[in-house]
Amino acid sequence: MNVLIDTIDPDDLGELADFHDAGHGTADDFLADMLNGLRQAQKEISCKYFYDKRGSALFDEICDLEEYYPTRTELSILATRAPEIASLAGPAAHLVEFGSGSSSKVRLLLNAMEAPSSYVAVDISRDHLIASTRDLASEYLDIDVVPVCADYTREFELPTGLQGKNVTGFFPGSTIGNFAPEQAATFLGRWAKVLGSGAGLVIGVDLKKPRALLEAAYNDARGVTAEFNENLLVRANTELNADFDLSAFAHDARWNEAAGRIEMHLVSQRDQTVNIADQAFNFQADETIHTENSHKYGLAEFTDMAGRAGWDAPATWTDPNNLFSVHFLRAR
Ligand SMILES: C[S@@+](CC[C@H](N)C(=O)[O-])C[C@H]1O[C@@H](n2cnc3c(N)ncnc32)[C@H](O)[C@@H]1O
Repeated sequence: MNVLIDTIDPDDLGELADFHDAGHGTADDFLADMLNGLRQAQKEISCKYFYDKRGSALFDEICDLEEYYPTRTELSILATRAPEIASLAGPAAHLVEFGSGSSSKVRLLLNAMEAPSSYVAVDISRDHLIASTRDLASEYLDIDVVPVCADYTREFELPTGLQGKNVTGFFPGSTIGNFAPEQAATFLGRWAKVLGSGAGLVIGVDLKKPRALLEAAYNDARGVTAEFNENLLVRANTELNADFDLSAFAHDARWNEAAGRIEMHLVSQRDQTVNIADQAFNFQADETIHTENSHKYGLAEFTDMAGRAGWDAPATWTDPNNLFSVHFLRAR
């Protein structure tokens, strides 16, 4: 059940129609996931913990990097195809974005759609979500803007009133690539059921391409991606009272050909012990914490998976260089 949080004055939502907080991504969740992840043979931490206020700001910086082709490429596809997307979504649609970040790409859709009714923005990064949706709501006064702070890998309720309505989901940024393919299929299957038969889903999917282009995109020369990756350790030190020595871990991003994914790791620079909540974790030199996967797909590989998860793919678009794809899916 969603609750209206009490740290925001309900009279002070600005132009926001409402605010929902599923209570996910708490310090308790972070601690439990961190301890469990560091106990694995291959140490790991979920990439969802990149995103506090600083992590979200760093992600926006990544989007502007020369090496990071996905954002500008997806934006160019959305800008070109916005009229077709608007026509497929239909009039008075309710738009639900998963991992809404700065809510910048959605403006292209809202501007093209015929009298959209509402925009529901789902994100785990609470402060950034509130700031971004407040900005958007002040610009789009005719649209109900509802931020939902939730972890979309867990169960949560969408605001009431969407049942039986014309709903289109929006999942840009190739964020679906953070899931392993079987998790991606589960995510797509769940939302086909929740959004309902006939619902649309506009989804951005990064495509397979030569290793050099991929690895450059995640190992930028200015080191912004490295700072983003290391923000996990900064958060653990600040929020969990851990004692990670930031200078003793290095960012690394590598293409795993067999798995079809870019993997991000934090590499221990020496033998060392890290303490978190009275528990000690030993690292050998060169041992890594696996922090993110970014799976890349072929076009048919993705639409076949979406098909098995209950979605037809009436439209698929790419850029002229076949770097990135945007699909309009329709729930059966
Ligand atoms: C790769 S960014 C994409 C942001 C934006 N949609 C775009 O395309 O530029 C992923 C976004 O999803 C959010 N996010 C990541 N994992 C999440 C989760 N498990 N639940 C909810 N939001 C999540 C992050 O806070 C971030 O805003």
